[in-house]
Amino acid sequence: MKSYAKIAPYYDRFVNKNFYKILNKYLADKILTSGEKKLLDLGTGTGFFPNYFASKGMFSVGIDQSKEMLKYANGYAKEMKLKNVQFINKDFMNIDYGEEFDYVTMFFDVINHIIEPQNISVLFKKINSALLPRGEFLLDILSLWGMKRMWGNDRFIEYHDDFNIFWTSSWDGRKQLLNISLKIKSDKGIVSEKFVERGYSTKFLVEKLEQNGFTVKNVMPLFFFKSKPSRYLIWAQKK
Ligand SMILES: C[S@@+](CC[C@H](N)C(=O)[O-])C[C@H]1O[C@@H](n2cnc3c(N)ncnc32)[C@H](O)[C@@H]1O
Repeated sequence: MKSYAKIAPYYDRFVNKNFYKILNKYLADKILTSGEKKLLDLGTGTGFFPNYFASKGMFSVGIDQSKEMLKYANGYAKEMKLKNVQFINKDFMNIDYGEEFDYVTMFFDVINHIIEPQNISVLFKKINSALLPRGEFLLDILSLWGMKRMWGNDRFIEYHDDFNIFWTSSWDGRKQLLNISLKIKSDKGIVSEKFVERGYSTKFLVEKLEQNGFTVKNVMPLFFFKSKPSRYLIWAQKK
């Protein structure tokens, strides 16, 4: 069973809603134009972004390797009566893309789920080939500072009305890996999952983007921890 399978029913209850609010406002104001455009969202999870942009008139596709997360994405699309959104259950590294999208997005740490640094170029090449000429690629990244200091080596409990989450995290500075485990306790019992995320500097990602056919237009801090950025938004355009 892949990660996210067991936490899918809780995911939308515990993710930071502020994240979507801030990101959507920035995207809507500065970058994404609605209407007859096509958007591809990689690691789409419960489909927040494709569903949101489909509701603004874009044709949107979301890809995720977790069928449990996509069950929610499809459910929301149905509730929202969207006809212009499609979800595909695949590993986004194993797809050959055609040049058809105006935008590719990858949000909420998805890039940090790529553990092997050599796969970053493989992925950026794939994304480049999915985009139309001058198409745009937007991704966010958990900063090294955020991984080391905001997460770091920690244990805490997050309380919700009908469940609690016991979070444990440890940062391996030598391997640049953040290990996160969460245990969700509710009346229905306990579910646990573990994740490993890799830290990348924005400098490394910018270099890889430039080497793989992109011009980087902006690297913008999105959130802060103790006055230093804990998350960045990177905006790149196909050359
Ligand atoms: C933190 S969640 C982000 C979900 C969504 N983008 C959001 O903003 O809420 C990361 C998602 O990426 C998916 N994912 C990670 N690596 C993937 C891969 N190689 N192919 C497809 N999906 C992947 C996971 O299954 C998970 O749903």
